[in-house]
Amino acid sequence: MALDKPYLDVPGTTIFDADQSRKGYWLNQFCMSLMKAENRARFKADEDAYLAEWPMTDEQKAAVRARDLNWAMRTGGNIYFLSKLGATDGLSFQQMAGSMTGMTEQQYRDMMIAGGRSPEGNRVVGETGNAQGAASQSDAWKAWEEKAQKELAAQVEQAQAATKNKADGRARITASVYSSHVPAIGAAIDHGKTEEPYWQPLFKGYDFSKQWMKDNTPDVIFLVYNDHATSFDLGVIPTFAIGTAAEFEPADEGYGPRPVPVVKGHPELASHIAQSVIQQDFDLTIVNDLKVDHGLTVPMNLMFGSPAAWPCKVIPFHVNVVQYPVPSGARCFALGQAIRRAIESYDQPLKVQIWGTGGMSHQLQGPRAGLINAEWDNRFLDRLIADPKDLSTMPHIDYVREAGSEGIELVMWLIARGAMSDVAGSGKAPKVAHRFFHVPASNTAVGHLILENQV
Ligand code: DHB
Ligand code: FE
Repeated sequence: MALDKPYLDVPGTTIFDADQSRKGYWLNQFCMSLMKAENRARFKADEDAYLAEWPMTDEQKAAVRARDLNWAMRTGGNIYFLSKLGATDGLSFQQMAGSMTGMTEQQYRDMMIAGGRSPEGNRVVGETGNAQGAASQSDAWKAWEEKAQKELAAQVEQAQAATKNKADGRARITASVYSSHVPAIGAAIDHGKTEEPYWQPLFKGYDFSKQWMKDNTPDVIFLVYNDHATSFDLGVIPTFAIGTAAEFEPADEGYGPRPVPVVKGHPELASHIAQSVIQQDFDLTIVNDLKVDHGLTVPMNLMFGSPAAWPCKVIPFHVNVVQYPVPSGARCFALGQAIRRAIESYDQPLKVQIWGTGGMSHQLQGPRAGLINAEWDNRFLDRLIADPKDLSTMPHIDYVREAGSEGIELVMWLIARGAMSDVAGSGKAPKVAHRFFHVPASNTAVGHLILENQV
């Protein structure tokens, strides 16, 4: 299913959704740059030179030069961003809005004084209201479209040929993977210490997993992790955030960026999931600019080793477990179910794994630092496998008391578990392909599970 867009037939109206945002990312970021006086001055002094600094499409640059806001919106612009361009030209919001209607400035102002445009006949395309015409176009846009028309015809032909060969089908979740994510594990890999006696037993626990990943490489991993005061500082604290960018660089957490490959995203699937999950009433923050920390890169190494490039795409999904209140286990479990519905309604035959990372018991702070509760951790694994719904009702305070303050990371595992088909009642209990537990890695008890969907 494509994104559900009931708003496409509202006349003369563009809703700024995840697809538009992705298309318009650099155009809108360019507009944001005009909020600085020095940038406005540079732009006004030499538009072409300033625009050359931005990785916008040629069409977006042409739309900016033509100051054609309808055209700019067609290429992904949003009015609140574009207003920075209008403001740079000294225009009011009324002048900007009016410029898109095909009316003169005076006509538009008169219409507003007379009570504004009526919704009558303007609710649905094909009625007889006064907003039913084509968008007004600058001459620059018309010329551009003529040229684009020819190119488009060629592209359509190519695309039709390509879809003929493509197998039909939907995305599906094949398995879920769970793993701790300690930074010291990353450091051991980066500094060639994996064979040392301290580390050897830990890495041995992932030998099976690396082979399993080779045999079961997905197209995309939906990777649930937490950012550790890396991309999100105290300025903005999203509870749930989905990475919709094409690439995510490894972050510098203070030791320099880890020497691991750039993570390639899947913007189309991520946008689809964002829209579907938000329409299922979960509030996600959409993040186009995200650097990924050890929470994501360490599990990638544990499962794939250290390849020159990661062998599949990854959609990073961040959960706030740093500043309370953090989301409840029950909410995470329900979110996992919503994510499953989103993924399995995507109309490309992709194999998707969902990973839950962080945990198990650890406390990194205060006189109680170093707390480990192996018995509780193993009980958590048992319950995660056999009765995750019941496990999801466990309150935060139990995690803190029993598994240490940072053991709260384990709520993220419930998102991955909620996305398995048995939870939706459409499959048997998952197969436990692998289970591993080891103490310690740095301050942490390391737990690891691979669960395969049985359909
Ligand atoms: C450690 C564990 C973590 O989960 C983390 O985010 C940072 C450090 C540790 O055990 O050292
Ligand atoms: Fe952590």
